Order: sequence, then C-alpha cells, then structure tokens
Amino acid sequence: MLTFGNITLKHGLFLAPLAGYTDRAFRTVCRALGAEFQTTEMVSSRALCYHDKKTPLLARIDQEELPASVQIFGSEPSFMAEAAAMVAEGMAGGAVPSAVDINMGCPVKKIVSAGDGSALLRKPELAFDIVKAVKRAISLPVTVKIRVGFGKEDRGVGIPAFAKALEEAGASLLAVHGRTRADMYSGEVDLASIAAVKSAVSIPVVGNGDIKCAADAVTMLRETGCDGVMIGRGAIGNPFIFAQIAAALEGRAYTPPTLREKMVVALWQLRLAASEKGEYTAVVESRKQFAAYTSGVRGASALRGRMNAITTIAEAEALCRELLQNSEA
Ligand SMILES: Cc1cc2nc3c(=O)[nH]c(=O)nc-3n(C[C@H](O)[C@H](O)[C@H](O)COP(=O)(O)O)c2cc1C
Repeated sequence: MLTFGNITLKHGLFLAPLAGYTDRAFRTVCRALGAEFQTTEMVSSRALCYHDKKTPLLARIDQEELPASVQIFGSEPSFMAEAAAMVAEGMAGGAVPSAVDINMGCPVKKIVSAGDGSALLRKPELAFDIVKAVKRAISLPVTVKIRVGFGKEDRGVGIPAFAKALEEAGASLLAVHGRTRADMYSGEVDLASIAAVKSAVSIPVVGNGDIKCAADAVTMLRETGCDGVMIGRGAIGNPFIFAQIAAALEGRAYTPPTLREKMVVALWQLRLAASEKGEYTAVVESRKQFAAYTSGVRGASALRGRMNAITTIAEAEALCRELLQNSEA
C-alpha cells in the first residue's frame, strides 16, 4: 500500500508521463486496465503563465481519471508557483487534480539548456526553492520526478541528499528514474541509487525505468525497497501490464490478452482519442500505438506499411480484422 496526501493506492502502480503518448485516451485505458495513478505529460509553466491557448488542454484531467496529477516544468519559482496555482483549480473545464508533479528529470537538450527538467539536479538550491514556492501556492500534495544524477560521474552520489532536501522543501512523493541525464534512455537502470534515495527519505518513493513485465516490477520493488512502480514505455501498446503486475504481487495467475482483446483495446483507445482530437489527428497519432499493440504479432509486419498510412477509424478497424484473420488462418 502506498499513501500520500489523502491518496491510498493498493500497489502503487503509476503510469509514467510520456509526452506524445499519455494523452487522456491512453490514460483512460491504462486506468481501466489497472493503473492506479497517472500524470499528464509535462506542461510548460511559462506557457501556462503566458496564457498560451493550447497548453491548458494538455493540463486537463477529467474527474474519472482521479487520482491523477498534472506535471509542470520550468525553472523560475514564481512561474512554477503561478502555474501550479492555475492547474490546481482544474484546467480547461477539467477536474481538480490530486497532486501537482514537478519535472526534474527531462533530459532533452532544449529543456536542459533552458535550465528546466534535469538541469535542476545541478542547481539544488533552485530546485528546493521551486518546491517550496509551489508548495506555498497550492494546498494539494506536490510530487517530484527526478533522475539519479546529471552526469554519469555523479550517478547516485548526491541524489540521496538532494531527495532528502526535496522532502524538507515539501515534496510528498518522489518518482525516481534510475538513470542520469547523460544516460538519456539507454544503459542499465541503477537500482542501487533508487534504493539509496528510498533509504534517505520518509516519503513514498516510486521506482521507474525499464519495467517491461511483472518480473521487472517485482525486481524493482525487491531491490530498491521502493513503495511503488512507474511504467512508461512498457505500457505503450501494453496497458495490460498493470494487471499483470497486480496479479504477480497478489500471487494470482495471469492470463495475457488474446490478439482479439488487444485489438478491442487499441480501437477503444483510438475512438476515445478521436472523440477528443477529431478522427484524422487521432488516427495519425495512433499509428505508433498500433505498431506497439501489434508488435511481435504474426502477420503484423506485412501490414506495417498500411498501418503507417491509415487516416480513418474504418481503415484501422479493417486492418485489425485482417490481422485477426491472418493470425487465425
Ligand atoms: C517519448 C517519451 C516522452 C516522455 N515524456 C516525459 C514527460 O513529459 N515527463 C517526464 O517526467 N518524463 C517523461 N519521459 C520519461 C518517462 O516518464 C520515464 O521516466 C522513462 O521513459 C523511463 O521509464 P520507462 O523505461 O518505463 O519508459 C518520457 C519518456 C519518453 C520515452
């Protein structure tokens, strides 16, 4: 059980924020299939403060999604506080989120060179000031997503003290991706550094990085002592992973989805996205999702070219039917 604020999660199964993937449709599907908590993709505090028109939609969470948080990024405490106050009221007609999450992990050059995301790992005082400012601005729990260091050389070195100071600044939960900024998304996940963070703080710690199946989640929990797990890429095309992990943690047998079940879920996700973004945008964006849902499926690679060219839901449905027929032939 994992508790922070007034939120209690049975196993602490988090869907990671993934820009370009974890839209409301995908979050809804993951929740229905066992994710216990989810976060929007990162939303620019500056864009919110400057009243950019499109940004509030990225920060919108629906009532049915709760518990869920909005993730903001930036490096000016005043903008971060103002943006947090805005999202804490619910954006674009959406619900009040359960928490506000601060991004201190993004490794992308454009973000880091602006001093945002993982750049804050190198500016501890500023990072703590941001947490304090956000905490003062809202009454919701403040959570922070970090990596285990910036450069390869500081992997795990200063991160326990950094995490402890985040807690003292007011953070209620930390999600820790077991890589440094320099690692980007490759190389081994450093479980020892996540364990060191867990030992340093008394707030819940959620372990993140390369959890692709239930066994990976069990290893993360066992090796780090963390309170929950956060799954990103492992959920793309496989939102069933949350149920698989829950079954493993409860000692129950797990039956993987059939191809038909996968197709039903993929099309459901597509229809949800279409109702929000319009059919064309949703279908174009869904191509990468379909590729993931059908990865490793017999006959899927032959259809890949057509999958990458679909523009309507009808075409997506026809492809799914064809795939099912081919696989059953
Ligand atoms: C395409 C993509 C987009 C991402 N977007 C975000 C984001 O908006 N905010 C964030 O904190 N992390 C983001 N991440 C990092 C993930 O949340 C996660 O920490 C990382 O992918 C490691 O976990 P995984 O191996 O389970 O995917 C992103 C990662 C990827 C691959």
